[in-house]
Amino acid sequence: MGRCMEAMPEFKLISGEFVAICDGLDIAQPLDDEMHRSIVEVLDHYGVCIFRNTNPVSEQDQLSFARQFGPLMRQRMQQTVSARGIRLTTDELIDVGNLDEEGNIHAIDDPRRAFHKGNLLWHSDVTFDPVRATYSLLAAHVVPPDGGETEFADMKSAYDDLAGGVKQRIDGLNAEHSIWYSRALGGMGDINASIKKTRPPAQHPLVNINPRTGRRALYLASHASHILEMDRAEGRRLLDQLTAHATQRRYVYRHQWQPGDLVMWDNLQTMHRGVPFDDVLHPRDMRRATILETPGN
Ligand code: OGA
Ligand code: MN
Repeated sequence: MGRCMEAMPEFKLISGEFVAICDGLDIAQPLDDEMHRSIVEVLDHYGVCIFRNTNPVSEQDQLSFARQFGPLMRQRMQQTVSARGIRLTTDELIDVGNLDEEGNIHAIDDPRRAFHKGNLLWHSDVTFDPVRATYSLLAAHVVPPDGGETEFADMKSAYDDLAGGVKQRIDGLNAEHSIWYSRALGGMGDINASIKKTRPPAQHPLVNINPRTGRRALYLASHASHILEMDRAEGRRLLDQLTAHATQRRYVYRHQWQPGDLVMWDNLQTMHRGVPFDDVLHPRDMRRATILETPGN
């Protein structure tokens, strides 16, 4: 496996065939070409990379580290949905914690709380937009004492293990994805039509082929409502079966966060979900940078 830099610790594989850890990389320093290549390689061949003891990740360090892997997504969806203020200083970071703009834990009826519940369902980030996300980089600042882990599932191995007939059946199929579909599943109340119009659904192939390795992976998310080429109920059943298959324990790693962890994953080869915690009692401060797919990356 690729090495960090000279005098840097190596990447170690820690779970199945898809999670690597790199201890002690200073993410505030620009990456040299070798290290950059190693990270891309690790994500191509595995899917999730944990950077530990990066010490502590400032917003600026997280952004400058992330930018080295492609253009950043900007998004203010939670603010649109909740009509509340923002806590973070830039819309290049997505606030996935449970704190409001004053640093207090979200009130029980805060719409952002309901919005975040959607993250507890298996998904890949922003599949509901026409431009897909390649990598997400999630930094932990404050973590709760119990729960609040994040689980990842390996969509490459899940694809490989499908029966030949299923692989043939899904070849060339496309799913429709909508944030409003997954938010309704997550229990969020009705959203008005003008807000819904700001995020129309998007369509993507059900199977992703990594352009560098040629490896196939399932591209699934709770945002996916149906399959374009199939009868709605039948497509729904297929999505449920594929999701159940791909999230069996043998494909899943559960990450126990430590403050200062930065976890980077490939959305095109993994799914993830949050694990519940007592979000009325304990603060959880987590911030995500998201890289958009471009023809070159
Ligand atoms: C995310 C996400 C889950 C979590 O940041 O994209 O889904 O555990 N997070 O916070
Ligand atoms: Mn997510």
